[in-house]
Amino acid sequence: MTTPQHKIGSGFGARSTADDVLRGIDLSGKLAIVTGGYSGLGLETTRALARAGARVVVPARRRESAEQAVGGIDGVEVDDLDLADLESVRRFAEGFLETGRDIDIVINSAAIMACPETRVGPGWEAQFATNHLGHYALVNRLWPAIARGRGRVVSVSSVGHRNSAIRWDDPWFERGYDKWQAYGQAKTANVLFAVRLDALARDAGVRAFALHPGGILTPLQRHLPKEEMVAAGWIDEAGNALNPSFKTPEQGAATQVWAATSPQLAGMGGVYCEDCDIAEPAADPVGPGVRDYAIDPEQAARLWTLSAELTGVDAFASKEVR
Ligand SMILES: NC(=O)c1ccc[n+]([C@@H]2O[C@H](COP(=O)([O-])OP(=O)(O)OC[C@H]3O[C@@H](n4cnc5c(N)ncnc54)[C@H](OP(=O)(O)O)[C@@H]3O)[C@@H](O)[C@H]2O)c1
Repeated sequence: MTTPQHKIGSGFGARSTADDVLRGIDLSGKLAIVTGGYSGLGLETTRALARAGARVVVPARRRESAEQAVGGIDGVEVDDLDLADLESVRRFAEGFLETGRDIDIVINSAAIMACPETRVGPGWEAQFATNHLGHYALVNRLWPAIARGRGRVVSVSSVGHRNSAIRWDDPWFERGYDKWQAYGQAKTANVLFAVRLDALARDAGVRAFALHPGGILTPLQRHLPKEEMVAAGWIDEAGNALNPSFKTPEQGAATQVWAATSPQLAGMGGVYCEDCDIAEPAADPVGPGVRDYAIDPEQAARLWTLSAELTGVDAFASKEVR
């Protein structure tokens, strides 16, 4: 059954932290993979899951930095993965599958945002390729271990999804690049991925969620000139946070940790969350909530087909969705 895109009244909110949502939850014996788990919200997610007893695998494109960031956290291991390189995704997934371990939680937190025009692989726009296609290939390649774990896959999207639907007529920005539209398209793809994965995987007992974590100052903003952040009212000239709605990284990690672990979501999936609850549909183009094009099952199926063609992997190739 599909889950309604409406709040459930979780009792948590924008100021809840990852530790708050994990209170009373024991993750001993569980294995989580957290992409980007060595920076920003991913790092706080890694810390919180490990504190709750989980073993956490952190795939990293900068292994040394990752080892420094997570060194000293019990139960965390680092391995090599560059999401912008499908060969690297294949190597990581095959290496993991060889260990024979099950996966209980996947949190796809890694991303790049609003970078200058960059092409990867066969000329693909880098935000769509890294944030969406890399995670698509990763989850499909890891599917045997995810299926055995019968757990959850969490797609970290953004309110930025409202900047663009999937641009079916020009997904690679061949007619002119806009860094925020490219981020928006990639973040819409993250939501559609969760919608389609949930439809394909729920018979196997695996559920998928997408979410907006809130606004948090992290290294994600590395490509933004200071003047742009000052003009947006995010920081002052000295670099101090100005926007009172900004969250701390511990609060920013909470919604992804909640989506990955909360018993409140048992039997649910395929929805977009924010502030540790299921979000409402967006009432207007710039307000909170999720835009209709990002949770449309037809768009989700079409994106899945395109992603399968582009990456050459589809763990559900012969499956029909009822
Ligand atoms: N911060 C916010 O305000 C905010 C708001 C809305 C949504 N989000 C979403 O939240 C998620 C986490 O963001 P964050 O703020 O924690 O950002 P962050 O601190 O920049 O962390 C992103 C992580 O992704 C990794 N990554 C980037 N490209 C990669 C690649 N090709 N292969 C493997 N890993 C790669 C980065 O690795 P390196 O360190 O090696 O580059 C880093 O560890 C993202 O999906 C973002 O879109 C954040």
